[in-house]
Amino acid sequence: RKKVTIQHLHHLRKSGTPITMLTAYDFPTARACEAHGIDITLVGDSLAQVCLGYDSTIPLTLDEMIHHCRAVSRGTKNPFLVADMPFGSYHTSTHDAVQNAVRLVKEGGVEAVKIEGGLEVVDIIKKLTSIGIPVMGHVGLLPQRHAILSGYRVQGKDATSAAAVLENALAIEQAGVFSMVIEAVPHLLGSYITSRLKSAATIGIGAGSGTDGQVLVWDDLMGTWGGHKAKFVRRFGDVKGEVESGVKSYIDAVRERTFPAPNESYEMPQVEWEKFRK
Ligand code: KIV
Ligand code: NA
Repeated sequence: RKKVTIQHLHHLRKSGTPITMLTAYDFPTARACEAHGIDITLVGDSLAQVCLGYDSTIPLTLDEMIHHCRAVSRGTKNPFLVADMPFGSYHTSTHDAVQNAVRLVKEGGVEAVKIEGGLEVVDIIKKLTSIGIPVMGHVGLLPQRHAILSGYRVQGKDATSAAAVLENALAIEQAGVFSMVIEAVPHLLGSYITSRLKSAATIGIGAGSGTDGQVLVWDDLMGTWGGHKAKFVRRFGDVKGEVESGVKSYIDAVRERTFPAPNESYEMPQVEWEKFRK
């Protein structure tokens, strides 16, 4: 397998080969993306919820993100490696955005950063790309703005808001993003934005099948948790079921003293045992 580069991603886009992106948060999940052929590994700030137990992405700090990026980068060779810039790490000034993106690249070991937003982040995208840090955009539903959006809602369902999502996508492409996530928009809009872009590859999540690629959160794909499932999630695995049966079987075996079995225990030569007992 060859190292995935931005040039390779553009080639996939032009040839109509769907791009596969998946989140990873630590060494084992990174190794799984590496081993099984994922194109882009994303250290998503969804790690706030699925790994750290926060109730949104808002509280995640840059230091926490870097800590996870270091583990993911140790397990990543071939996939193109991107990290989300946490909420607040690119909003205060272009200077701060540069400083924090540089930390993600130098300390975290990622190749590119992802930032949420449209027209209002154009200057940041231009600055980061000008100094050699590739930027992935993120339009449509922006989880870092869930409060002002009054929740995690589908975006672009009416003509006015669809036009706003398109305008933001065109603006960040113009500013230089190599790719962008489009989250939770009607499938017609996901396809239309994809057709209107000249160079940026679109990676959809809840944006229909017409984007240049797809992304899912690791735990949604694996079925790590029960409970609420967004419409756009498909569970490709049943990790929750595997974990439940593993933990329960272990508890039962310990309580029944069937674990450990003789072949899971160490022997001592009989003669040594007798000497010891004398
Ligand atoms: O944080 C995340 O996991 C993401 C992807 C779902 C695009 O931003
Ligand atoms: Na994110």
